[in-house]
Amino acid sequence: MTAPAPNPNKALWEKGDFTRIAETMRDSGDALVESLGIAAGMDVLDVGCGDGTTAVPSAQRGANVLGVDISEPLVAAGNARAEALGLANLRFQEGDASRLEGIADDSFDLVVSIFGAMFAPRPFDVARELVRVTRPGGRIVMGNWIPGDPTLVAQILRISSAYSPPPPEGFVSPMTWGVESDVVERFTAAGVPEDAISFERATYVFSAAATPSAFLDDFRRYYGPTMNAYAAAAADGREDELHAELDALFNEQNTSSDAMSIPATFLKVTVAV
Ligand SMILES: C[S@@+](CC[C@H](N)C(=O)[O-])C[C@H]1O[C@@H](n2cnc3c(N)ncnc32)[C@H](O)[C@@H]1O
Repeated sequence: MTAPAPNPNKALWEKGDFTRIAETMRDSGDALVESLGIAAGMDVLDVGCGDGTTAVPSAQRGANVLGVDISEPLVAAGNARAEALGLANLRFQEGDASRLEGIADDSFDLVVSIFGAMFAPRPFDVARELVRVTRPGGRIVMGNWIPGDPTLVAQILRISSAYSPPPPEGFVSPMTWGVESDVVERFTAAGVPEDAISFERATYVFSAAATPSAFLDDFRRYYGPTMNAYAAAAADGREDELHAELDALFNEQNTSSDAMSIPATFLKVTVAV
């Protein structure tokens, strides 16, 4: 028997421990879910759900929720949260946004993916899969970071890429999901009319009782993409330079004097199916 080919997308997100970052995103996850008008009994799929920052509040509002994520430890962390919270209407399973295996067509009223499916390879397959599993009359809501945006996450990715080797040929940047024309191209190719796709700018706030520099340490130790950037910078003898740039960024972006509160702008995409 031949071993399955390594999946770099899965390896990246199984590195570190994203739950450490997710803990700072809970309030915004709850606010976003509140804005979606989730009603009891709705069937909700959360793709690239992590440990449930949006899946948990969706289930707390009475929806039947399935969270799908490529990372086995994050799926386990999500199921542990569901159990600890006594949410029998929430479960998590491993899966790939580019190929939602085992999920039937037209299964969900709402398909959510907040900074999740944007990281999957083959964006046209992702759009097609999100549309396929949404019931006619249902909605897809994506949250995507925006390339070139001046706020935290886009800037982390911009700075990190300057210290990282060029991506392999044919690699499509996840940040293209933050470009409206690319999003339209992907969903129209999946059969959605252009006027069924709408966009707004929204904000997620990373908040913690910690300093921005301590939060950067969490990125350095637990967030796969940042761990890779530090490793690449270290290999070039430029780790201190990368750290200084990121530390300045995290501190500049903080808006709170007594704790940490860092707002970040994202593109909220709504697709009526
Ligand atoms: C930045 S985290 C966001 C997690 C969660 N949505 C949240 O808001 O906390 C990105 C997530 O996408 C997941 N992911 C990356 N590539 C994926 C893929 N191909 N299919 C499904 N999930 C994926 C990662 O494992 C990770 O949980």
